[in-house]
Amino acid sequence: MFRRDLLFGGAALLGAAGLAHLGSAMALHGVQELVVQQATYQLRHQRTAGMVSLSSDAPPPVLYGRQGQEMRFTVRNTLDEYTAMHWHGLRIANAMDGVPYLTQMPIGPDEGFAYAFTPPDAGTYWYHPHCMTMEQMAHGLTGVMVIAEAEDPGFDSEEVINLRDFRLDAADAFLPAFTAGGAARGGTMGNVQTANWRQGPVYDHSAGSLVRLRVVNTDTTRIYKLYLDGGMARIIAWDGHPVSVELPVPRAGAPLLLAPGQRVDLALAMPVEEGRQVGLMADLHSQPPRLMAGLRAVGSGPARNLAELKPLARNPLAQPDLDRAELHEFVFGWTPEGDAPNDGFCGTLGYTFWSINRTAWAGDAASGTAPLAVLERGKSYVLRLRNESPNLHPVHLHGLAFVPIGSNRRSLPPLWTDTMLLLKDEVIDIALVADNPGDWAFHCHVIEHQKTGLTGFLRVT
Ligand code: C2O
Ligand code: CU
Ligand code: CU
Repeated sequence: MFRRDLLFGGAALLGAAGLAHLGSAMALHGVQELVVQQATYQLRHQRTAGMVSLSSDAPPPVLYGRQGQEMRFTVRNTLDEYTAMHWHGLRIANAMDGVPYLTQMPIGPDEGFAYAFTPPDAGTYWYHPHCMTMEQMAHGLTGVMVIAEAEDPGFDSEEVINLRDFRLDAADAFLPAFTAGGAARGGTMGNVQTANWRQGPVYDHSAGSLVRLRVVNTDTTRIYKLYLDGGMARIIAWDGHPVSVELPVPRAGAPLLLAPGQRVDLALAMPVEEGRQVGLMADLHSQPPRLMAGLRAVGSGPARNLAELKPLARNPLAQPDLDRAELHEFVFGWTPEGDAPNDGFCGTLGYTFWSINRTAWAGDAASGTAPLAVLERGKSYVLRLRNESPNLHPVHLHGLAFVPIGSNRRSLPPLWTDTMLLLKDEVIDIALVADNPGDWAFHCHVIEHQKTGLTGFLRVT
């Protein structure tokens, strides 16, 4: 078996089989040890040193779990800086959320932290550090987490695509992860686009088969504009949760915006003709469209039809009561001149450019922060998200899922999510039930914005 099959759960690794194939070192007594470490990898022409992963020579693996079943991870830190691991999109106990100072102390060099949680929802999620976030994510530490449905949804195989950029120089060494000019505006884009740390990998799947394609944008900055070239497809889940409406399949000229933190699951019918390829394409600014990943039909099999798939079972999300919901407004904008951010153990970019409700985040440190709002457990709320800047912000809320109910700029399908992309000058109302107690980080997922002020938290009592 190829290494990528071990790590990425290719065609042979589905559902229970996928769980069984996790390396034995990783499944010690049901506890997987995740060792945060330096890595070297050939992203482009030469090997790039100074990467951060969970092994010395491979991308962070896909972590597999099952809805309603406990997962346990010990995160061990072998770097000479602090870290903390966050499980993006999982509605789990606050103490397991991995946010330094808010939910746990950062994990120091040679220290570990034992995470244990039971994912209530099936779907596509991901994990990344929430301390030294800019450096560690930019250098590679972003991985996908797949939570299988309790009931097999009937695909022949699946493919997980972790999209992200790296910022490399001509010798394939890391460039600085950000520039001040980028952080103050739309973010600093990477210059090497990858899928699963490779440029345009092609994966084989049986001709005529039904493939579940899980696409995750784990980049620190780029809003990917994606579309499919070839194949019959349907969008079946968005940001982890099954969709309840028919969404257009993104095609050339009408791409889908997938912002940092967001995920889309597609059901794909492979071409019946051997050798035919379906491309996951990205529209990149002032460049020809790029093949991010290909799926190639191999062999010959009976042609299956998308209509054979029954809809995914809904996740157990509480419906907000809009008649009784209390409204809270949050304004995302630039900051008045503020203090330099606190410099705790979790890194600072050294600038403050952004704010929520005119308050810049004081920094990932032990002092100087207060909740932006206090929500009463079990009650329904409408949060009005107002973008007062010309830049786009994928606003992410930990620990809770929410649904958009209106925008001043477009009609939004009612897709449950944890990360809402705000366009220029857009105001979006989202609704939720505050059913998970704790202090939940609330921030832009453009990491340069997050780390220069566009962060806060909501307290659910
Ligand atoms: Cu995916 Cu607070 O992050
Ligand atoms: Cu998160
Ligand atoms: Cu932002």
